[in-house]
Amino acid sequence: MAADHLEQHTTCECRRAIVTGALALAVAPFAPTVEADVNPRTVRPQTGDRFVFMTGDRKGEPIKPADLKVGDAPTLAYPVDAASGTVRDGARTNLLLLVRLDPKDIAAGMQANAAEGVVAYSAICTHYGCPITQLHASGGKLVCNCHGSTFDAGNNGENVVGPATRRLAVLPLKAVDGDIVAAAGFSGPLGPPQQ
Ligand code: FES
Repeated sequence: MAADHLEQHTTCECRRAIVTGALALAVAPFAPTVEADVNPRTVRPQTGDRFVFMTGDRKGEPIKPADLKVGDAPTLAYPVDAASGTVRDGARTNLLLLVRLDPKDIAAGMQANAAEGVVAYSAICTHYGCPITQLHASGGKLVCNCHGSTFDAGNNGENVVGPATRRLAVLPLKAVDGDIVAAAGFSGPLGPPQQ
């Protein structure tokens, strides 16, 4: 009786092992395919990404620090994978704005996210999602032309005026070999709150 039980148990274990092995074999060949299906153009900005102009005569060209001047309107940009050169323009949420600020307009808590006076944010307004394209004449404030929401570019994109209810997502920057690159991914939620 005990032997029968042992035999049954062993058979059961064997069956379980065979099934588990078969499942592993069935799943393994598909794992790399799932990774390969990720579209690099829709991947969010990554550490080390560089930037290109999103529009205008220089669309697709690299943005250099000298292209950004204090007082200029925000420059709309897409991140670029530095290794492959892939422009991450396949998702609207990857649209960025870069703006150079007067150093006096950068709060102490924002300085670690700035490089050579330049700061970067998600360009998607957190009200209804319009792209943000304007710098207020007084400097340091980003204005959405759709309904007037205003964000403090020198202070983590805090919403200071208008109907938006939350700040812009920051993209931390760092200087590398005279260039400006992403120091990390986005900090903060992107776009309007989900309805
Ligand atoms: S979409 Fe920007 S203020 Fe409404």
